[in-house]
Amino acid sequence: MNVDLYEKVWMWIAGVLIVVFLGAIIVTAGAQAVHPPSHVETINPEEVWDSEEFSSAGVETLPDGRTVVTMVAEMFYFEPMEIEVTAGKSVTFRVTSTDVIHGLMVVGTNANAMVIPGYVTEFTVTFPKAGEYLMVCHEYCGTLHHEMQGLVIVNEEEA
Ligand code: CUA
Repeated sequence: MNVDLYEKVWMWIAGVLIVVFLGAIIVTAGAQAVHPPSHVETINPEEVWDSEEFSSAGVETLPDGRTVVTMVAEMFYFEPMEIEVTAGKSVTFRVTSTDVIHGLMVVGTNANAMVIPGYVTEFTVTFPKAGEYLMVCHEYCGTLHHEMQGLVIVNEEEA
């Protein structure tokens, strides 16, 4: 079979690129532990309501001043549905689902995550401006998905 010289050159270039890209993935993932951003913490979805942490879901201020919001997503609500936090302070969300995949998005802010049964989703955000923000599930989870919403009340920073 006669393969044109330029065709061969491009085949070699493509081959080398594939090796380089695969190599980059293997080196960064294997040697440098670079992975897609995720917080791999597992939980048995059937035991969420019995767990110490999630049975008392809500807003908590730790002794060091950090705010932690523990939340459960379930068809078709969040527990708690309404939370109050302070503007300008970092807030760590810890969320899990007991049934299907849900989403958690605080409209107009950069709080946006997926909530997957079996895992605890954790992310930290700071709400710069006080106000009331709609919190919605943005992952289709069933017939009443559109009803799955709550409220985040961001209070003014304490002077
Ligand atoms: Cu939960 Cu959509």
